[in-house]
Amino acid sequence: MAQLIDGKAIAAAVRADVAGGAAAFLEDAGRKPGLRVVLIGEHPASQSYVRAKARAAGEAGIEAETLRRPADLSQDDLLTLIADLNADPAVDGILVQLPLPDQIDETAVIRAIDPAKDVDGFHPENVGKLVLGEETLEPCTPAGIVEMLRRSGVETSGAHTVVVGRSNIVGKPMASLMLRRGIDSTVTVCHSRTRDLPSITRQADILVAAIGRPEFVTADMVKSGATVIDVGINRVEDETRERGYRLVGDVAFDAVLEVAGAITPVPGGVGPMTIAMLLQNTLQAARRRG
Ligand code: GUN
Repeated sequence: MAQLIDGKAIAAAVRADVAGGAAAFLEDAGRKPGLRVVLIGEHPASQSYVRAKARAAGEAGIEAETLRRPADLSQDDLLTLIADLNADPAVDGILVQLPLPDQIDETAVIRAIDPAKDVDGFHPENVGKLVLGEETLEPCTPAGIVEMLRRSGVETSGAHTVVVGRSNIVGKPMASLMLRRGIDSTVTVCHSRTRDLPSITRQADILVAAIGRPEFVTADMVKSGATVIDVGINRVEDETRERGYRLVGDVAFDAVLEVAGAITPVPGGVGPMTIAMLLQNTLQAARRRG
């Protein structure tokens, strides 16, 4: 039976560290670190993520405000809003929640954010630094996974990390981080076109599932004793629940629990870490800006 990696508890420790740092920043700078979360439209999952991010920021001593705009907002109006936030000295971190409505070009929006305020780590300048191994604001989900592995004592050096999924938010930056000096993993990235996926995932010492398909990773795809990190948050219909759905990951949890050495649950695994790292990035951005 696998050991559970308690993302919620590890995230609480990171958040406590950030709260201490934010208090010290307030002392020195005479202001709190400032975060602005931009939410366009009414995507149900995005609304709940944004609420969680703003609440956690407030609790850590970060001055957080959520800016809500209608789903039919024009790209020009969003770019104007971002320019205002770039120019606002009280704002250290800007997060535009993805996905965006069809009329808005995601790439243009990400490029418009001041890289020094890009607490998602999505701007090409920050992505470039990440790939080069330079210090930068790192994408929150992969950074949270690395922190979770570190704090759980999982050996990464020389380990084979297999990432399933090649998104810009998780898969690609995850691969870059695991390759870094000091982390030193051997990295394989798989995706929907990969041939004989199970033969590759079975080689993983660390398996990161970021596909976005409920319970996609089954027990036969996992090596005995492997560390399994489940990035998925999928809503599946469940009439026995009051809200009409339950959350499942990209990993068939009950079956994989029997073969893995360690595994993250959903909810309570990667999700809380993503939020904790956003707070850490906001504090880091504030300190650099002074
Ligand atoms: N949508 C899903 N994950 C993320 C994330 O980490 N940041 C932003 N901005 N949007 C997301």
